[in-house]
Amino acid sequence: MSGDAVSEQRIGGTTGRAQVPNRTTQITGWGHEVPSATLTNADLEKIVETSDEWITTRTGIRERRIASKGETTASMGALAAARALAVAGISADDVDLIVVATLTPDHLMPSTAVLIKGALGSTRAAAFDLSAACSGFAYAYAVAHGFITAGLGQRALVIGAETLSRSVDWSDRSTCVLFGDGAGAIVLEALDLEVGQEGTTRPGTLSFELSADPSGAYALWIPGGVGDDADPLIKMDGAKTYVYATRTMAAVATAAIERAGLTPAQIDLVIPHQANIRIIEHVSKAISYPMEKIFVNLDKYGNTSAASIPIALSEAVAAGRLKPGDVFCTVAFGGGYTSGAFVTRWGADPAHTARAASVDPSTIRVVRPEGGAKADEPPAVLRAFLGARHR
Ligand code: ACO
Repeated sequence: MSGDAVSEQRIGGTTGRAQVPNRTTQITGWGHEVPSATLTNADLEKIVETSDEWITTRTGIRERRIASKGETTASMGALAAARALAVAGISADDVDLIVVATLTPDHLMPSTAVLIKGALGSTRAAAFDLSAACSGFAYAYAVAHGFITAGLGQRALVIGAETLSRSVDWSDRSTCVLFGDGAGAIVLEALDLEVGQEGTTRPGTLSFELSADPSGAYALWIPGGVGDDADPLIKMDGAKTYVYATRTMAAVATAAIERAGLTPAQIDLVIPHQANIRIIEHVSKAISYPMEKIFVNLDKYGNTSAASIPIALSEAVAAGRLKPGDVFCTVAFGGGYTSGAFVTRWGADPAHTARAASVDPSTIRVVRPEGGAKADEPPAVLRAFLGARHR
């Protein structure tokens, strides 16, 4: 940024240039943060009429993480983002844009992205939240890719973060067993292709497929918006959502893979939204893609909505499931209904994961409103369990 007084006050750092030819994007940083408190299926047996056997066989989920007092969408998102910056080897002021995909923002206003910007100590980045439910990370990645390839900036933080435990009806067994809390983040950077790199073997981001189907608007929703009696808890028609999920996941994944000029056999890893193992197995069959090449961690975290794919991506890289040159496809569905997929050739050194350990969580502090906020407190029904078990 230039040194004159007017531009010093500008917070965006964007250049507004026309689209840059032969530019794509690449992931150079990744990180995640999950609360340490776990809630197991056995714990849920004490809260609603359910069983470990029902939850495990119908969903594959064994436990989920629950935010403790003071852990919020912004605080988890900020820590995940700080780790992604450390992995990328850049500072917060190297970032031009912060996009947070979430359906559980700390507040309706300000955006969670602005709170995260403050916690990271960024002075430059434009920041906003994006609402596309569990497909939010795919949508946010696409927006950041468009921003960078349009020449508006060089680097973006793309974050998926949720505190679903504050939006779950803990007396409704058909939804409360499904969801968990957490955050994941990536650094997305400009990658200028060289002559001869335009084909299907080119590096970086290869393709997208995004869709939205209003016929599902009130099959999976949170009535709360504005107004005194706005109900803040998730309502879901599980069977209808299951049918949509199985149909759309296979369709958008196939479309994104075809648009990249590839076939499923050429994809090294699929990272699906972690909602239900049966939905993932259905996708595996529908696109004739082996389960061994699909990353699954929903047994540990449940459905963390927009956070599920970036948490899974961060864990997949740390576990050595992606190496430079590998192509991966992410695919998600969620409230709206929405769905989204993208295909990317991995280019970063997985060993950079170790750099995340340099982040001291006590230095990443989100400013809270005076007197705290209602969502800072865990739901009363969970408190006995949260005190007991931390990982
Ligand atoms: N424990 C025990 N029994 C239960 C539970 C529970 N936790 N929940 C529901 N049941 C009962 C039901 O009441 C029903 O009983 P009934 O036959 O006596 O009426 C029975 O189990 C069967 O219910 P189904 O709905 O048929 O169960 P199904 O096999 O479809 O599984 C599930 C339910 C897991 C919710 C499934 O429909 C599903 O995964 N749907 C997709 C949900 C999803 O992924 N939502 C997230 C979307 S992403 C986002 O944007 C937030």
